[in-house]
Amino acid sequence: MAKVILFGEHSVVYGHPAVAVPLHNLHMTATVRPAAVVTAPSTLNCLDWHGPLDAAPAQLASVVEAVKVATGFAGHPDTGLHVTTQADFPPERGLGSSAAAAGAVIQAVLDAYGVPASPQQLFDLTQEAERIAHGHPSGLDALTTASLAPVYFRDGAGTALDMNLTAWIVIADSGAQGSTRETVGDVRRGYETSPEQVGALLDQLGAIAEGAAEDLRTGDVSALGEKMNDAHRLLAELGVSDDRLDAMTGAARDAGAVGAKLTGGGRGGCIIALARTGDDAARIAGSLTDAGASGTWIYAPHLEKAAP
Ligand code: PMV
Repeated sequence: MAKVILFGEHSVVYGHPAVAVPLHNLHMTATVRPAAVVTAPSTLNCLDWHGPLDAAPAQLASVVEAVKVATGFAGHPDTGLHVTTQADFPPERGLGSSAAAAGAVIQAVLDAYGVPASPQQLFDLTQEAERIAHGHPSGLDALTTASLAPVYFRDGAGTALDMNLTAWIVIADSGAQGSTRETVGDVRRGYETSPEQVGALLDQLGAIAEGAAEDLRTGDVSALGEKMNDAHRLLAELGVSDDRLDAMTGAARDAGAVGAKLTGGGRGGCIIALARTGDDAARIAGSLTDAGASGTWIYAPHLEKAAP
């Protein structure tokens, strides 16, 4: 399934905490069917690609790697498979599409061979696929896209966060592809050039995420809104926002959001905005569509919790 990072993107890479939530109504599914001839080359149907697995474009590298690590784990490294993924949320928007697809494919391959795996093994395999494809992901995506509960994440490990928040989170897609690899690389270069200045921004983002975890536990909507605005300002100072994300967070606040920030790697992708009521959330989502959002979703943690 999809995920959104509520707090801690970028600073999480430097050992600070982060909080992210799975979005249970935005699904990613994968199916795997053995090829009629065992030695036939594998095929992949994923997004716009329908062809040989080995020739899939770079954008699908984590899915390709997922097939390799899962067939290796299952003890069938060189067998032909037909792999199909289907998602009801867009890729490359900071919603965790690549980790969700990798995780779903790994699970489907293991199911096809009847090979059990623990949650930790599934996480490790997903991270392996993501690492080969994307460099050095923190693991936040791999964990949250496979989680049933909100996640508090730090130093490569996550725990379930007991969230008691009665509020609505509007997620709005800027319509532009995010560039996580690029922004993570730029922050790294900035940190190497100006460790004190960039380190101070990362420390502040980490402190905000830590405080926000407590606000999520106690359900302090006002405090969370303020922290969202502060986090967005700091992420912009870090250089990972852009005009569109700034304009969308501004539009959300103008429409009555308690707070708003970019989510995920930035420079494209999505923003999130916090609303006190379902009506507020619907109005904010409408304003964001008017401001150019290509898609909006509303996530209500307290309603998800009540769901069976
Ligand atoms: O753009 P996303 O949703 O994949 O999130 C990236 C989060 C970062 O903290 C920027 C990178 C990471 O590996 O955690």
